[in-house]
Amino acid sequence: MVEWARATGGTVIEDDYDGEFRYDRQPVGALQGLAPGQVVYAGTASKSLAPGIRLAWLVLPPALLDAVVEEKRSADRHSPVMDQLTLAELIRSGAYDRHVRRMRLHYRRRRDRLVAALAAHAPRVRVSGIAAGLHAVLELPPGSPAMGDLVARANRAGLALAGLEAYNGPADGPGALVVGFGSPPEHAFTGALDALCALLAEPGPSR
Ligand SMILES: Cc1ncc(COP(=O)(O)O)c(C=O)c1O
Repeated sequence: MVEWARATGGTVIEDDYDGEFRYDRQPVGALQGLAPGQVVYAGTASKSLAPGIRLAWLVLPPALLDAVVEEKRSADRHSPVMDQLTLAELIRSGAYDRHVRRMRLHYRRRRDRLVAALAAHAPRVRVSGIAAGLHAVLELPPGSPAMGDLVARANRAGLALAGLEAYNGPADGPGALVVGFGSPPEHAFTGALDALCALLAEPGPSR
């Protein structure tokens, strides 16, 4: 990709929006480091801290810097200074790094619990997208209830789920659910997992 960008003068946008939370192997390095003149690197505090903070960052090829700063200025006259200074202090003091490391372990445990619970209660559900981030994709087996019914039943059980087609995923076939495991508070996670398993559980000899 870097060769393509160099040869064509193209720009690669590297959206590393949950790169802090890779679970099963060492994080891969950023592409940006290989070609700082060709890659726009984007990161965000939305996953590492909270989406409501609305702080993110770009590492820009020098040739784009002035134009992007100007666009940002005319879009919103820049992000709140106190919030930026607070994040800068968190990073400078090492507290941000410690937080990310602690949360990586925490989210990995949650992910593992989700995968284990589904294997036990809904073994025909295929779980993917779990190497990184705070969401899993659950591909439903043939014969599953219609996606709209499933999402409505989930909502009634207090679960906010979405079908993959809401993210422009394929709309045909039995469908897939996108399940976030980051947001429930600790005291609610076990209950949420039980409710999800009850929703997807298949009647059969194992139950
Ligand atoms: C693909 C992708 N990029 C970036 C983000 C981060 O967006 P924001 O920083 O506006 O919350 C998200 C949020 O989930 C995302 O799904």
